[in-house]
Amino acid sequence: MNRIRIRRPDDWHLHLRDDALLEAVVPATARSFGRAIVMPNLKPPVRTVSDARAYRERILAACPVDSDFEPLMTLYLTETTTVDDIRQAAESDFVHAVKYYPAGATTNSDSGVRELERAYPVIEAMEKHGVPLLMHGEVTDGDVDVFDREAVFIERHLEKLRSTFPALKMVLEHATTSDAIDYVKSASGPIAATITVHHLMFNRNALFEGGLRPHHYCLPLIKRERHRQALVAAATSGSERFFLGTDSAPHPKHAKESDCGCAGVYSAPAAIELYAEVFEAAGALDHLEGFASLHGPTFYGLAPNDDFVELEKSPWTMDAELTAGGETIVPLRAGNEIGWRQVR
Ligand code: DOR
Ligand code: ZN
Repeated sequence: MNRIRIRRPDDWHLHLRDDALLEAVVPATARSFGRAIVMPNLKPPVRTVSDARAYRERILAACPVDSDFEPLMTLYLTETTTVDDIRQAAESDFVHAVKYYPAGATTNSDSGVRELERAYPVIEAMEKHGVPLLMHGEVTDGDVDVFDREAVFIERHLEKLRSTFPALKMVLEHATTSDAIDYVKSASGPIAATITVHHLMFNRNALFEGGLRPHHYCLPLIKRERHRQALVAAATSGSERFFLGTDSAPHPKHAKESDCGCAGVYSAPAAIELYAEVFEAAGALDHLEGFASLHGPTFYGLAPNDDFVELEKSPWTMDAELTAGGETIVPLRAGNEIGWRQVR
C-alpha cells in the first residue's frame, strides 16, 4: 500500500498554548485534523466555561482562514471546581470534558488536585451529566519510582473511581504501559485510552541515545520496550477503546535544552504521517482509520468527520528547527526522514 485514504482524523489530546505560540502551532494541527480536544493547562488554567469560551475564540482566531478546524474545549479540574461548573459545562455545546491533573505531576499542574477523593462530589456531577473525565493517570508520591507512576495510579485510584462511578466516561490519557492497556481492555463501563505517537515509536532508550535527549522527555515518561509493544498492539488492534491523542506539547528549544528541562514532545507537524509509519511497521494500515478517525468520535458521542485525507508513501525531511511565535522549537523527528506525506 503506497497511498491511503482515510476519513479526516481528530486529535483527542492536544496542547495549543496561548498568544504568539498558539498562533504559530494551530496550523500544524489544522492541516490534518478536523477537531482536537484542547488541554486546559494554561497559566492561569482554563477553569470555567467562560474561560473556555474565551480560549476557544482565541484558537479560532489563530486558525488558517481556509480551515474548518474545531477546537473541543476542556476544563481544568481544581480543588475549587464546583458542581455548578460541571452543569454549565454539560449545558454548553463546546466544553466536551474535564481534565484531571494530580498537583505537581507535569507542566502547569500546580492548580491540580492534591487528593482525588476531595473531587468526588464534582466527579459525581460529571457522571450524572455525562461529562467525560480525562485523566493524567500518574501518582506523584516521592517514594514511587517515576517509571511506575502510571501503574501505581491504576492500582490506587482507577479501580476505585470505576467502582464508585460506574457510568462515568473516563479516558486514561497518553497510556504508556502494558498495565494501562490491560486495565482499559478489560475494565467494565465506558473507559478508553489515548495513545501518543512518540510512545508508540520509542522505548526509554531514546532518552539516553548517545547522550541525554531532552526532546524525547515527556510525561508520562516513555517506558521499556515491552510496554511500547503493548501500546502498538492495542493501537493497531482495531479495539474501539483506543484512539489517537498526540499530546503534542510545544516548548521553546531553550526551555527543553536546559538545566531543568520542560516535558513535552512537539509532534503536530508530522503527527498523522508518523502514526502511519507505526501502523505500517505493524502491518496494520487497515486499522489506522479506526484509531485516528472513528473510535474517538464514537466515545465522545460525535459524528466522524465527513471529509477525507490522503497519505502517500513518499519520504521527506522534517526541518531541524521551526520558528514559532519568535521562538525556536524542535519538532519530533527533527532533521530526519519521514516515510509518509499527507497529500490531501
Ligand atoms: O509531556 C508533557 N507535556 N506531558 C504533560 O502532561 C503536559 C505537557 C505540556 O503541557 O507540556
Ligand atoms: Zn498532555
